[in-house]
Amino acid sequence: MEREQLQDLLARLTLDEKLGMIHGNELFRTKGVERLNIPPFTTSDGPMGVRKDYEKTKWFDIGTSGDQTSYLLSNTAVAATWNPDIAYESGKILGKEARGRGKDMILAPGINLQRTPLCGRNFEYMGEDPYLVSEMVVPMVKGIEENDVSSCVKHFAINNQETNRLAVDVNVDERALRELYLPGFKAAVQKGNAKAIMGAYNKWNGTHCCHNNELLNGILRDDWGFDGVVVSDWGGTHDTMEAAMNGLDMEMSVTDNFDEYYMANPLKKLVLDGVVPEAVVDEKVLRILNLMNELHMLDGDRYQGSYNDIEDKVKMLEAARESVVLLKNENHILPLTVKKGMNILVVGDNANRCQAPGGGSAEIKALYEVTPLLGITMLAGGDVNVTFKKGYDAFTTGNIWDDSHKEKEESWQATSLESQASREDYMESLTPEQEAANKLLNDEAVEAAKQADLVIYVGGLNHEQDTEGRDRKDMKLPYEQDSLIQRLLEVRPDMVVVMVSGSPVDMRAFKDKASAIVQSWYAGMEGGRALAEVLFGKVNPSGKLPETFPLCIEDTPANVYGDFPGDTNVTYHEGIYVGYRYYSTKGIPVAYPFGYGISYTDYEYSDLRIENTSSQDEVNVKAYITVKNTGKMAGKETVQLYVHALDSKVERPVRELRAFAKVALNPGESKTVELTLNEEAFTYFDVNKDCFFAEAGSYEIQIGANVEDIRLKESVVLDWDYTVMK
Ligand code: BGC
Repeated sequence: MEREQLQDLLARLTLDEKLGMIHGNELFRTKGVERLNIPPFTTSDGPMGVRKDYEKTKWFDIGTSGDQTSYLLSNTAVAATWNPDIAYESGKILGKEARGRGKDMILAPGINLQRTPLCGRNFEYMGEDPYLVSEMVVPMVKGIEENDVSSCVKHFAINNQETNRLAVDVNVDERALRELYLPGFKAAVQKGNAKAIMGAYNKWNGTHCCHNNELLNGILRDDWGFDGVVVSDWGGTHDTMEAAMNGLDMEMSVTDNFDEYYMANPLKKLVLDGVVPEAVVDEKVLRILNLMNELHMLDGDRYQGSYNDIEDKVKMLEAARESVVLLKNENHILPLTVKKGMNILVVGDNANRCQAPGGGSAEIKALYEVTPLLGITMLAGGDVNVTFKKGYDAFTTGNIWDDSHKEKEESWQATSLESQASREDYMESLTPEQEAANKLLNDEAVEAAKQADLVIYVGGLNHEQDTEGRDRKDMKLPYEQDSLIQRLLEVRPDMVVVMVSGSPVDMRAFKDKASAIVQSWYAGMEGGRALAEVLFGKVNPSGKLPETFPLCIEDTPANVYGDFPGDTNVTYHEGIYVGYRYYSTKGIPVAYPFGYGISYTDYEYSDLRIENTSSQDEVNVKAYITVKNTGKMAGKETVQLYVHALDSKVERPVRELRAFAKVALNPGESKTVELTLNEEAFTYFDVNKDCFFAEAGSYEIQIGANVEDIRLKESVVLDWDYTVMK
């Protein structure tokens, strides 16, 4: 339909009909207008697949098997692949399945910056670097939206903690905001053409983000030219006047008093009283109609989608393979060699745990999930004896979010607006009884380890810790895993340690003693198979960390500067020094740096050549690097380009990621990688000029295998200043 036709449609709507379209009339749906063939608008979580279906007005699982669906990689795992094609393919599956399940909008992807390792929702996000986030979110959004489905990029903005999330007022300086916390959203909007954005729960400058004028009308619409739909987070709206005037288009919540939502009867009253012009409502409805039109919801010519397609399982397996990060491999313990008749012992609750139903709104009722234990058993084959010892108990079935097994018991989300506080107490330490029970499990595992030919430990976190609504209190491994791992390593120094988690854990208790450490994430329904393939050498690991793994929480900037999790106010005192920008610049040792990940082969970097053909109008710098696989196994290496401003007038981090490329290499093969930089790659945000600014001067181009392993360097000079729109 043309714009005029949409306007004509709008003109035929009554005020009530219009209001029905801008607020939830069910938990995940707004009202349609049947007489004019305007369908209701249906949303679903996101981001690790299409969430199970709830009843229309209650948080009861509808109890069907029709919503068993693909369980995709968490966004941290996607980011760990450093492969934008994988982000695109993941988006395509998500979009196709959302359509297949009859949804119009998938509440994904989540891209908040990982400011601290403790944020409970980090696993839903794409790491600590704005460039990496931007490079991954754009293809993911495109992949989703190719399917006549809207993405809903969330949570806009500075939603970096769960503690007090509904009320916390974030204070962040303008430079950090523009350089770190916003670029992912800007890229999603400007390069990915995202059709929708979800406002965050928290406040910024005293006003909730879901109706924050500066954020939504100022930054999102005026600065970036966004013309899509702003959806509130569920229960993130708190004021009718602000919701009406400050840029929110669709109010959603967790309660069933739909007529009382701020943008329902209360807004109607303000319109009828002449306080809010009806044109304000019209503007929102027009945006929604426009979105519906783009999704072919109004002309019937719509892609129908499908879900659980077999070929997508293969894509998810391929993605999971590239997400595994090999952290340590002393004496080439890995890959493991399987011999006939061998006894393989697998220890650890995460080996046998299905993670899909956990995490909060990111929960998935997976069609199936290959756990690490299943993956290992399937791969090791029939001639091998695989046994499992739990080693410790996490004292939870599935997890607290998994209410599908309970009869008509409401989801946590029903009371999530009031019960925020109670959720924060969940992570108690073990009771004496639990400790005694775990001691027995520990002993049993240690005894079994003595007898086995190979021992693989699979522990880490689960969705008790990596979860919506609550942050971790520290980086320590839960369930006293440190002492268990230490005991196991004493009897089996060759034990392989696998960490499954969405965020870094403190590994000091075993990092030096263990010979092989592997980081696996919530890697989707094929994650366990992919992990096994890496362990047994069917796949050469190529994942790299999308976030720094610090040694301990005491070293992390949000902790050092003291304002995490704060109370009702949080100030990001660390400013631009988040993640590696802090560790590298201040020389703080870390466990594993940003961008780190080794492989079963070695890569040699050589012949850095810089070509600078910049003009007064634009920067055009190309870096050419030769990368050679000098080992015996085919693999993939991610070449990272960091820029260091050598004579900047302002303080800048010692290096910032500005380009990368993942390249596949056979043994002995060399390839030349070409990386291109434009003016953006040299900018910082200049608060006085109110724009991004690249100063004339010298810059060092640093090529590395990770942020702390810079292999090649060369300087480049920019002869002119450049400005880039904020
Ligand atoms: C979460 C959102 C989610 C929404 C709907 C909220 O609790 O913050 O990410 O999309 O619920 O389930």
